[in-house]
Amino acid sequence: MAQEVRGVIAPGKDEPVRIETIVVPDPGPGEAVVKIQACGVCHTDLHYKQGGISDDYPFLLGHEAAGVVESVGDGVTDVAPGDFVILNWRAVCGTCRACLRGRPWYCFDTHNAEQKMTLASTGQELSPALGIGAFAEKTLVAAGQCTKVAPAASAEVAGLLGCGVMAGIGAAINTGNVGRGDTVAVIGCGGVGDAAIAGAYLAGASKVIAVDIDDRKLETARGMGATHTVNSRETDPVEAIRELTGGFGADVVIEAVGRPETYRQAFYARDLAGTVVLVGVPTPEMKLELPLLDVFGRGGSLKSSWYGDCLPSRDFPMLIDLHLQGRLDLGKFVTETIRLDEVEQAFDRMHAGDVLRSVVVL
Ligand code: APR
Ligand code: ZN
Ligand code: ZN
Repeated sequence: MAQEVRGVIAPGKDEPVRIETIVVPDPGPGEAVVKIQACGVCHTDLHYKQGGISDDYPFLLGHEAAGVVESVGDGVTDVAPGDFVILNWRAVCGTCRACLRGRPWYCFDTHNAEQKMTLASTGQELSPALGIGAFAEKTLVAAGQCTKVAPAASAEVAGLLGCGVMAGIGAAINTGNVGRGDTVAVIGCGGVGDAAIAGAYLAGASKVIAVDIDDRKLETARGMGATHTVNSRETDPVEAIRELTGGFGADVVIEAVGRPETYRQAFYARDLAGTVVLVGVPTPEMKLELPLLDVFGRGGSLKSSWYGDCLPSRDFPMLIDLHLQGRLDLGKFVTETIRLDEVEQAFDRMHAGDVLRSVVVL
């Protein structure tokens, strides 16, 4: 039986979000219905609301979520009702070239649930944010979007791994491959940059240099494991990073802003054989010009990090276990917990830079 639950809808471009009754169908083959327990408020939800991602209104917002599987459709074997799970953006196929070569984050054939959730009032089909739609009491996803993790973790902490925090930690430990003793610089200390700092700390970096233009962000970065901070409004960050690394530059530089000037800083702040990891997302019109001789002469590598190059089945349970053992404090990323009807105000606070993460708890 399809069921009716409450969810947060973005009805049209720049219109305030509102709570509506939505219809969640029974899971079909390969699908699961998840009872949402917590879901973080992310910039991407705001971008959906503002029309920056697509025009497929109405959107069912929310995508950094954890909850308990309520029911599964035919053929689902990896998760079962009662499992505590973290949701990810897309189920991967497991059989394409990218999947078979161990890089499922580049899967050519990802999918979400086939059935649609609808608005109870009009019957209109909903577009779930990032194929999830978890600012709702329940949501319908592809079973492959659910990853089982240790149930002892709190849902508000677990859900964060579904997006920004995983992107940041993964940029450090997966894409950047930060190793014990490495020097690391992170440019931009929002939620993603802070998670990259926490990842570098976790991986045993000897120095973690945080760069931002806002002293409040640098203060928070220290709490995440930054050993040095640089305000790039006052100090040239490339010079400062070189100075802090014996004149060489950092082994790994992570760019978590998404602007040409910070990409450039990241490029020049790395050690000759170092790695630059680009996790900040640029806009289509942004360009960066570099002397080819500098690209050639400096060696090393320039990598972009897509969703932290994460493999949910490997990374989510591991990071939750490290959190439960007290070796990675994911609780630091939760600034406040809110109710489902407070998402609009949470967007304002996020926009003002007042919070790292507001998390809706259901
Ligand atoms: N130099 C250094 N830091 C900067 C600069 C700059 N020129 N401009 C902005 N910042 C800082 C801001 O002060 C803020 O602390 O970058 C940080 C950006 O943080 P958020 O806006 O909270 O963004 P976040 O969610 O962390 O995402 C960062 O990663 O995944 C991508 O799409 C995401 O492009 C975005 C980036
Ligand atoms: Zn997100
Ligand atoms: Zn695939």
